[in-house]
Amino acid sequence: MEKNKLYIPEHVGIIMDGNGRWAKKRGMPRYVGHTYGAQTFRKITRYISKCGVKILTLYAFSTENWKRPPEEVDAIMKIFDQYLVDALTDFRDDDIKVVFIGDKSGFSPRLRKLIEENEEVAKDRKGMLLNIAMNYGSRDEIVRAVKMISQDVLDKKLDVNDINEDTIASRLYTSGQHDPDLIIRTGGEHRLSNFLLYQSAYSEFYSTETLWPDFKNEDFDKAIIEFNKRNRRFGGV
Ligand code: FPP
Repeated sequence: MEKNKLYIPEHVGIIMDGNGRWAKKRGMPRYVGHTYGAQTFRKITRYISKCGVKILTLYAFSTENWKRPPEEVDAIMKIFDQYLVDALTDFRDDDIKVVFIGDKSGFSPRLRKLIEENEEVAKDRKGMLLNIAMNYGSRDEIVRAVKMISQDVLDKKLDVNDINEDTIASRLYTSGQHDPDLIIRTGGEHRLSNFLLYQSAYSEFYSTETLWPDFKNEDFDKAIIEFNKRNRRFGGV
């Protein structure tokens, strides 16, 4: 991609959809699709970092995904476990700073410990910030923010009349981060599925039929080229 001619969005969000269908098309169980999806996750993260994106948020597991059959949830947790073990050294050479957004209390003690260790080893890195959204739900995130604000009002640390958009934004998992400029969804659906609802008020949305395990660097380039054609007005004219 001739990146010097294109505007690279500061923050990109990706809804990684289509793993199950990818496996089914090949006559394999759905979890195999997640294994391949995890490989795509690693490759594309490196590429996106090299493109100059400052923040990448990947939707790995939603608060609603627990409703899936237990065998599939178990398989996804095993993939996370394996990923988190490998990831302690992953992305080091790329200086990528990994953080996890979502309700960590939903995971096993082992996964929680691995998540903490991963955040610890990456904390001083200065490259792209990678938010991995796990057990993440935007409504849950907003409820959590409302509870924090209510507590601050009860404790008289905050006056109700001083509550504004920043009061909420600063209590989201993405506190202090630039809002997503571009949200990509693979797998052909056109919805946000409880991903970054507050933060995406003015994000450009790009959907591709490509299933997540098939998503390549060139597919990301296409999304960037399309993004460059959009006229962002943020409510103005
Ligand atoms: C959506 O595909 C994918 C998921 C719910 C799980 C995503 C997990 C990964 C990509 C693994 C990589 C993540 C990490 C952090 C290593 P789907 O199952 O909804 O696909 P379908 O729409 O075809 O059913």
